[in-house]
Amino acid sequence: MTQAQNSGGLTVEVRPASSKAELREFQRWHRLCGVPRGRRAARNLLHANDAGILSTGLSRDYAASARRDASAVGGISMVRAARTMALIASVNGRVVGGLAGGPSIHLVSQLAVLGPEAVVQGALATIKIHALAVLPGHHGRGIGRALLGEALRIAKESGARIVYGQFDTDAAGTAAFFHRCGMSLCAPGLPVDLRAWAELPVVVAPLPSETLFHWAVAH
Ligand SMILES: CC(C)(COP(=O)(O)OP(=O)(O)OC[C@H]1O[C@@H](n2cnc3c(N)ncnc32)[C@H](O)[C@@H]1OP(=O)(O)O)[C@@H](O)C(=O)NCCC(=O)NCCS
Repeated sequence: MTQAQNSGGLTVEVRPASSKAELREFQRWHRLCGVPRGRRAARNLLHANDAGILSTGLSRDYAASARRDASAVGGISMVRAARTMALIASVNGRVVGGLAGGPSIHLVSQLAVLGPEAVVQGALATIKIHALAVLPGHHGRGIGRALLGEALRIAKESGARIVYGQFDTDAAGTAAFFHRCGMSLCAPGLPVDLRAWAELPVVVAPLPSETLFHWAVAH
């Protein structure tokens, strides 16, 4: 699952993080996004990778089998890890950006009251972009777009219904970035009702200082 993209003469390669060192770097990608507990997030990616689960469920076949029999896939932690992607972007062999995305624990927890089937359905239908960051010296060269584009391609391939995330409303240029990349933006501080997009009785609510973006996957 590698992808080479050319942007203004620059070759950007996007691929899944494969080594422990690359997965540890997700602490940095989370930090650059201002996401708290980035160290824990990176550790979770490492654990899922060590257990051989990370990103193993990003296909329609997996989604279909998990939908049929949720118990056969090992429970919700397993589904979340299997549907989580950790992508890195490199230019001339140097890693310059990363993206982590997958089902949000907050979202699936909201569905718990409806039972295990709803939880699994939520985990299969949604991909939250937990972190997307490019090293400051490399902004504006198409690297963020390449990372997000690959995440959207994987989301579509895996049968997800919606990709979403949030950013700090005051972060200069971030709204323009997501808009230019084809994301729908909510007004700052306003929620997204997933009933409309993924038939899930869940509302994703940002902090008052955040703005949500989303992309409905066309199948
Ligand atoms: C947001 C971020 C990932 C963008 O990455 P990037 O590699 O600089 O963006 P790209 O070069 O791929 O830009 C893609 C498009 O967005 C536009 N864009 C990017 N940054 C922009 C800015 N600051 N102002 C206006 N437009 C911007 C580009 O002009 C480009 O548009 P075009 O191709 O239609 O001309 C990067 O700025 C970053 O790492 N920010 C810190 C972390 C963060 O806030 N992440 C988002 C929330 S998790």
